[in-house]
Amino acid sequence: MPEKVRFDPTLVGALRDARHVCVLTGAGVSAESGVPTFREAQQGLWAKYDPLQLATPEAFERDPEFVWRWYRWRRELVSQAEPNDGHRALAELQDLVPRLTLVTQNVDGLHQRAGSRDVIEFHGNIFSNRCFARCNYDRLVECDDDTAVPTCPACGAPARPGVVWFGETIPEAALNASFAAAADCDVFLSVGTSSLVYPAAGLGAIAQEAGAITIEVNPNSTEQSEVFTAALRGNSGVILPKLLESLAH
Ligand code: OAD
Repeated sequence: MPEKVRFDPTLVGALRDARHVCVLTGAGVSAESGVPTFREAQQGLWAKYDPLQLATPEAFERDPEFVWRWYRWRRELVSQAEPNDGHRALAELQDLVPRLTLVTQNVDGLHQRAGSRDVIEFHGNIFSNRCFARCNYDRLVECDDDTAVPTCPACGAPARPGVVWFGETIPEAALNASFAAAADCDVFLSVGTSSLVYPAAGLGAIAQEAGAITIEVNPNSTEQSEVFTAALRGNSGVILPKLLESLAH
């Protein structure tokens, strides 16, 4: 029998009455699906490499084959992973409130596989490729995983994974839609993110300043914890389904 959890009735009431809920997710929401987060130690083959050193344009320029090996490993890992109860609860929440905007920093597509619609992929998608040549920077190219470093069919330049790397700008449409949603929502949920990487980490403060109730769902406190109205400490795969359950009572 699952443990009965009682959430603060003000938070539950705010969620129940919300006109627009904005959710920001990070790697923690996929942790229970077996996808390693960025700032926890990696396992196996890649244990001695720092993902923060691999996810940069400089790393790709230095050694594109090596960066591709890491991304292929992550693609494989994500392909084998299944959405968890946290992903599913957020997909369900979309049908329980009049409007829900889901912004994810994750590139794994697990929210979509759980049934979430119109997900804003703030940092791109790991299964897409993009031309690395500056002239075609935003051109998405066909995935071709059989070659060490795939090439852009249009210009022959090396192709790179279609994700946002450190030091790069967020796609304009994703950025604008996310900022607008944070400023417009009545409830903001920050789920499974360390809130260290901007501009995504700034969305909570935007929502808070605009008068929203802001809630952090994370087993650990973060840099932004003090900004939020409340924190629900625990794994998102446990907390989110229970939060949804409490909406029904
Ligand atoms: P991080 O790896 O920085 O943080 C993961 C967060 O998830 C931590 O705060 C953990 O406490 C929390 N966590 C772990 N397990 C959890 C669980 N089961 N349920 C809920 N929370 C859990 O990942 P992000 O915040 O997503 O960007 O990192 C942000 C960005 O930095 C990433 O999108 C990526 C990365 O470098 C780029 O690549 C540009």
